[in-house]
Amino acid sequence: MVKYNRTHMCGELTIENIGQDASIIGWAQRIRDLGGLLFIDLRDRTGITQVVFNKDEDPELFEKAQRVRGEYVIQVIGKVAARSEKAINPKIKTGYIELLANEILIISKAETPPIYIDDNLNVSENLRLKYRYLDLRRPIMQNIFFVRHRVNKIIRDYFDRNGFIEIETPVLTKTTPEGARDYLVPSRVQPGKFFALPQSPQLFKQILMVSGFDKYYQIVKCFRDEDLRADRQPEFTQLDMEMSFVEAEDVIGVIEGLMKDIFKKIKDVDIEHPLPRMTYKEAMNRYGSDKPDIRFGMELKDLSDLLSQCEFKVFSETIKNGGKVKAINAASCGASLSRKDIDGLSEFVKTYKAKGLAWINYTSEGIKSPILKFIKEEEIKSITERMGAKIGDIIFIVADNEKVVHDSLGQLRLELAKRFNLIDEDKLGFLWVTEFPLLEYDEEEKRYVAKHHPFTSPMDEDIYLLDTNPLEARAKAYDIVLNGYELGGGSIRIHDSTIQEKMFKVLGFSKEDAWEKFGFLLEAFKYGTPPHGGLAIGIDRLIMLLTGTDNIRDVIAFPKTQNANCLMTDAPSKVEELQLKELGLKFY
Ligand code: AMO
Ligand code: AMP
Repeated sequence: MVKYNRTHMCGELTIENIGQDASIIGWAQRIRDLGGLLFIDLRDRTGITQVVFNKDEDPELFEKAQRVRGEYVIQVIGKVAARSEKAINPKIKTGYIELLANEILIISKAETPPIYIDDNLNVSENLRLKYRYLDLRRPIMQNIFFVRHRVNKIIRDYFDRNGFIEIETPVLTKTTPEGARDYLVPSRVQPGKFFALPQSPQLFKQILMVSGFDKYYQIVKCFRDEDLRADRQPEFTQLDMEMSFVEAEDVIGVIEGLMKDIFKKIKDVDIEHPLPRMTYKEAMNRYGSDKPDIRFGMELKDLSDLLSQCEFKVFSETIKNGGKVKAINAASCGASLSRKDIDGLSEFVKTYKAKGLAWINYTSEGIKSPILKFIKEEEIKSITERMGAKIGDIIFIVADNEKVVHDSLGQLRLELAKRFNLIDEDKLGFLWVTEFPLLEYDEEEKRYVAKHHPFTSPMDEDIYLLDTNPLEARAKAYDIVLNGYELGGGSIRIHDSTIQEKMFKVLGFSKEDAWEKFGFLLEAFKYGTPPHGGLAIGIDRLIMLLTGTDNIRDVIAFPKTQNANCLMTDAPSKVEELQLKELGLKFY
């Protein structure tokens, strides 16, 4: 036997190979000792080959094979043979053959693994994360990382073809303007000073435009210390890009081309071109979300005009005070929801700050609703008409300020779709959301903050609003949304210093503040700045959507938990007193 010399991978052998000699190496997935015959399913990253040892033919070899346990690493040389009719497994590529072993080499022993190497593993995620190397042996996980690898390759090929160049930017850097909390790294050489890990390469890529690189991209790690969710990690990967002499259309065109390429090559689906677009305002009004899942209806409808005079004070007062009354129609769901379910949904919307959830259930015995006594018959009639409600439907109504109405009904819509299986999982709900507001008002800081970042350009026709009504000003910003996820976002940047100064003024930055934070960018902008814009795609989210998981940790080889821990390495961890001393740091 030639040690470690493989002729085939475990997933490769088929009927074509019958009669040939083969040498394979892998992990012992399953061992069945039937007395005279011993079967080992040998697994590597490509699949499984069934290996057979026959006691009568070679008792010594058989005895050696009996010593193999689960997850041992072994090499086997043998002859490929057809399986008997009843042993055929048509579900796998190698299911028609088996390898009749002539030799075995036990390369590496294994203790009993704490988790099974099985796609249908049913253990806590924490255990999987602690023994991530075992978890990653599972074919379902390996597939995710092969997809991820291929997507990165498609991205690099695509941008290369289109004249972009990949440039790396620093990880030890200065605070960036994405709005999350920074991860800080203390400087030993300059005690009391800190680097920030980049929340994105935003400022560097703009500077690369000043340097004349024209078309830049990078697959890059970003770091944000923020509350984690199922689609958020503290350390994640962006496909970041920037272009000079462009308008939003050009950036959108490049990204649509990329999505077309990726979805064709990975999923063999043709994405319709151009992707649908919706303004931010329309998305909020119709779906209560700036990342709407457009694979199903149940859109929000405004009832405010119908109910401004109604006797139910909760509604009429809300409208009088500038709020809204909006509703969704959960068509055909009425009969399936008990009072208890509905009470549960009222609790659900409370997590989005709604004060209550009114409903009208169109049952075959007539209309049922807790607000019937406050609402006139003709008002009900006009609501029914606007909602297109029929027997079997149930509508849900929320009255509050616009933000709460949108948040709560937007989330309720998603919750109902999930419960009632209303989403066609084969559909791809791509869209661009455009014309985002330039600013938001931060109640805590009592000032305007940039919705995207302070270098995002206002729309030309809205610049005057910065002086009069800043919250109405729209930005040249766009997000790409898929199936209710924000896949990416970007903007055309400000390259005119008078507009930039105006923007800083609205944001309440003094000239000194702005120079302290972003002086290096403003300095660079003095020396000939091309108009530019770009976008960043969240690669982790893209892989989630391509591989059908709703857990971002599944698509990152070594992810962090909800508490931003790595259970495998136990990071973050304590450091030596001496290390702190060298850094000039002390706990107090
Ligand atoms: P933005 O902040 O919108 O834009 O980020 C771009 C995309 O990155 C992904 N993303 C995340 N993914 C996982 N975990 C996180 N914590 C996380 N945060 C963001 C999302 C998001 O759409 N510099 C700008 C881009 C630009 O203007 O060109 C930026 O970073 O998919
Ligand atoms: P009440 O008279 O307060 O019991 O409310 C009657 C119904 O109106 C209940 O079903 C409440 O959930 C609902 N309700 C209360 N406040 C609101 C609100 N802000 N928006 C929608 N429905 C509400």
